[in-house]
Amino acid sequence: MNTDSKSSNTVWHHATVTRQRRAELNKHHSTLLWFTGLSGAGKSTLAHALEERLYQMNYSTFVLDGDNVRHGLCKDLGFSNEDRIENIRRISEVARLFVEAGVIVLTAFISPFRADRDKARDLVGKDFIEVYCDCPITVCEERDVKGLYRRARQGEIKEFTGISSPYEAPLNPELSINTVANSIDECVDEILKYLLERGVYKL
Ligand code: ADX
Repeated sequence: MNTDSKSSNTVWHHATVTRQRRAELNKHHSTLLWFTGLSGAGKSTLAHALEERLYQMNYSTFVLDGDNVRHGLCKDLGFSNEDRIENIRRISEVARLFVEAGVIVLTAFISPFRADRDKARDLVGKDFIEVYCDCPITVCEERDVKGLYRRARQGEIKEFTGISSPYEAPLNPELSINTVANSIDECVDEILKYLLERGVYKL
């Protein structure tokens, strides 16, 4: 029985097609790679580059990306702390469904608050892999791919992460990827090596 929401009198229906069976069909395990970092730190770039490599290995993958999700599922949300918390809560639930569906999920959200990332970790369990895209704000600001840092400095964009809204870096991520010192390919290789060691896939 569901006691934690407004949907009372609902009962969880167990599927006969289990995750284990899906893994046998797919020839890899499902997992969630949770990329976190400042805007411009390389989350989306790395998630998509990694997805491309996994796809070429015939694996079932999907990227949930901050900017894209905010066009649909989360288009009612802005960038207040409250809205960011709700954004990450929804993404965590969606990511969990994808993991249940047997997919290697890559999420690319700033996800600035530790507590929210920890909730996602609790929800997904042992298959949660936190990937910190480690890049100082000075470099993100220099890159300023979308021109948002300049606009935030000019006061045009309020509550901008790293400038007028906080970012809490992970304390103990499974992976910390330095996106300044390494090329995209090097970063992707490092993550693939880790996934292989964890047994997400086999060669
Ligand atoms: S999160 O904080 O809720 O995790 P999310 O990853 O979905 O953020 O969205 C971040 C993207 O929205 C950034 O990459 C940037 O393109 C855009 N953006 C627009 N306004 C802001 C803002 N105030 N702070 C951060 N990112 C913003």
